[in-house]
Amino acid sequence: MKIIVTGGAGFIGSVMVQYLVNKYPEDMIINLDKLTYAGNLENLKPVEDKPNYRFVKGDIADRKFIFELFETEKPDVIINFAAESHVDRSVEHPEEFVRTNVMGTTTLLDACKAYGIKRYHQVSTDEVYGDLPLDRPDLFFTETTPLHASSPYSASKASADMFVMAYHRTFGIPVTISRCSNNYGQYQFPEKLIPLMISRALADEQLPVYGDGANVRDWLHVEDHCQAIDLIVRNGREGEIYNIGGHNERTNLQVVKTILAALDKPESLIKYVKDRPGHDRRYAIDPEKLTKELGWKPQYNFDTGIRQTIEWYLDNKSWWERIISGEYQNYFKEMYKDRVTD
Ligand code: NAD
Ligand code: TYD
Repeated sequence: MKIIVTGGAGFIGSVMVQYLVNKYPEDMIINLDKLTYAGNLENLKPVEDKPNYRFVKGDIADRKFIFELFETEKPDVIINFAAESHVDRSVEHPEEFVRTNVMGTTTLLDACKAYGIKRYHQVSTDEVYGDLPLDRPDLFFTETTPLHASSPYSASKASADMFVMAYHRTFGIPVTISRCSNNYGQYQFPEKLIPLMISRALADEQLPVYGDGANVRDWLHVEDHCQAIDLIVRNGREGEIYNIGGHNERTNLQVVKTILAALDKPESLIKYVKDRPGHDRRYAIDPEKLTKELGWKPQYNFDTGIRQTIEWYLDNKSWWERIISGEYQNYFKEMYKDRVTD
């Protein structure tokens, strides 16, 4: 099989590419990525010389490029990770989210329609469901929960999902969608909560916790996410949506305190700052469809996964130090200018 993984130089995509290249030596894995600020070819070092791996630089919203790529490569499977993925950035600059997340997805779907495909898989997010109230721990997102996006990011992902389902119904494209909870693990860009807090705590800098820190996220290790996607792509039913999550709900404050304790740093580093506008209160996934239908089971729980992740960031300081010493400094200054003082 020839599989194009889009966004394969980003956090989750690069773990997926490594997983597929190692697990399926008979398959050809093409990593298609625009290399935005979030794309980093260093993430692919462990597989870059493998004969069943290739990198192609390109933009999923560039129609001419995508059609030419389909014409020459004739892929069997597309797994679409490519996206603008950070909620805070979407609040500042929504237009790039529409271009990549919506137009990029429809461009890929049009190419699938023109050239044929065995499976198009859309990597989506639980954020399309909006949020759950904090005082109803009995409620979870299921695949039939109505879409109720809160941020420009989640609105763009929900919109893309609707196009994917529309192309299935109208043109018969064989699609699947997965909606996963928050990921953490190796190679996550340090704009996101966990790597941001690890890198700043190690430098004894303030840790900006939005609002009261009581917002809840359902954390899943990136390797468990990738394993689930592989199962869905190979065994999932066409036209179906699968939620992915492992029942690891934590408040942001719990996450930050866990990181501080593991690094032996004081809680006085925590700084409560101005809340994110539209901030979703709680995400929580019911993964029953995936576990019952496809037999998926996560390998990590939050306690084992966060330990492995912190160790990875300690062992790979040069990876993230290079990132935070570049353009990232301007990003942090701009994004946090009204929030932190250092
Ligand atoms: P990321 O920001 O780390 O990586 C995104 C990658 O896409 C980068 O390599 C970037 O260069 C590439 N890209 C961006 N625009 C592109 C374009 N126009 N054409 C080609 N490549 C482009 O993101 P991530 O956290 O790895 O998320 C990957 C996917 O998983 C996204 O679709 C996201 O919505 C989804 N998701 C993420 C999470 C999470 O917790 N991170 C959870 C559920 C779902
Ligand atoms: P994030 O990693 O941006 O993921 P998402 O918004 O997609 O869930 O944020 C996770 C949670 O952490 C979210 O509730 C916002 C909060 N947060 C902070 O409190 N401070 C920060 O500096 C960041 C980046 C996030």
